[in-house]
Amino acid sequence: MKKTLMACVILLGASMASVADSIKSKTLLTIADAKTSPAVALDLGEPGDTIGDQWLFDQPLLDAERNKIGNNSGVCTRTQVGNSSQCRWTLTLINGTIEVAGREFDQGSSAIGIVGGTGEYQHISGELISFKNSDGTYTQTLTYTLANTINSKQPADAKSLITGVRENGHYSCSECHGVTGNPPITDKYDKQSPILAGQNYQYLRTQLNHFKFARRDTKEMANTLQDYNAEEINQIAFYFSQQTQTILPFDPTIDTLIHSATEDNLWADKGRVLYQQGDQSRGIVACQSCHGASGEGDSHQSIPKLLAQHARYVRMTLAAYKTGKRTTDQTLDKVMRQSVKNLNDDDIKYLSAYIQSMVVAP
Ligand code: HEC
Ligand code: HEC
Repeated sequence: MKKTLMACVILLGASMASVADSIKSKTLLTIADAKTSPAVALDLGEPGDTIGDQWLFDQPLLDAERNKIGNNSGVCTRTQVGNSSQCRWTLTLINGTIEVAGREFDQGSSAIGIVGGTGEYQHISGELISFKNSDGTYTQTLTYTLANTINSKQPADAKSLITGVRENGHYSCSECHGVTGNPPITDKYDKQSPILAGQNYQYLRTQLNHFKFARRDTKEMANTLQDYNAEEINQIAFYFSQQTQTILPFDPTIDTLIHSATEDNLWADKGRVLYQQGDQSRGIVACQSCHGASGEGDSHQSIPKLLAQHARYVRMTLAAYKTGKRTTDQTLDKVMRQSVKNLNDDDIKYLSAYIQSMVVAP
């Protein structure tokens, strides 16, 4: 399970936060796995290879190390017998989709135009070079730029993006998350706002886009990001990722359910066992295998840092995965919904207390 997930998220290492970087063209090497999932041929018209025959495909998309990073689906129509077809297909990746179209030759390499995209790839342009490998897979190398960032107005500095009240009248981010992403502990809103300081950049950026495009169901954050452009979102994510997290003293009575400190230590102890070892007999995978021994996550793979995150937020989040309210792991093999499905309410309580109590490993 871990392996597949790693795979899914590996590609996110690709881009950086500065404006200069986003203007430069980027390269993304992918492999369409037509070997395990061959195209389905529709032999239309006369039997055999004739004009108008079609190939339909929906196959795993892999990175250079052959880890799954998404899907490759579309259709080719035969236009020249024994030579080439006209194709159109979609690469579905974690942060959006890329649509390509053009003439693909039976042999050698073909240059296919990138015709559009969604999500992070909304204003993409460039080309994809498709090459048929001897094992039946296709290497698809994309070279592209994200044009929107070139034309966007010079972005304001990150701090003013966070502290300013936006034109749409929403609260500033700092109101709930603090200027440095170390939020005050409060009952003012239904939920404790999560700590963002020092969180992994790729993870933050992905979540901000989930909020912007309403893919993450939430009350507090609804509509807050709609008037931020892609570059501003990158800047905000980068800014919070660079802040230092204030590790709270472990007094979970301030932030977990009302109960005694003794109980709290007991919960944290039970949570530690689940976090580090899981529980095979109940089908619970050790959280540590992905989130790391000290909850540091993995910045290259978009696995969030959990270290000392507020228990109230973690508890709410685990429950949200469990009830299927939070679906942001959709393109990650539903990794969190799978991880929490066998946890009961007590397990969630224990894990939340443990996560808040975590300290950096020596
Ligand atoms: C009214 C309070 C409030 C405001 C204003 C607010 N947030 Fe949030 N934020 C929350 C809460 C509560 C959550 C948890 C939401 C959930 O999971 O349902 C959250 C979640 C997040 C997350 C996800 C963190 C994670 O670990 O997954 C990010 C990132 C974030 N906010 C950034 C921002 C930014 C940037 C702004 C300003 C544009 C902002 N927030 C404005 C309360 C707020
Ligand atoms: C196979 C890898 C994997 C395992 C095992 C795993 N996680 Fe996760 N976890 C992830 C990934 C990836 C995400 C980000 C998913 C998303 O974008 O919604 C995540 C997200 C989370 C979040 C949300 C963080 C935030 O800031 O909102 C929490 C909390 C969490 N995991 C806790 C746990 C706990 C507790 C366990 C063990 C019971 C666990 N995870 C097991 C990979 C894993």
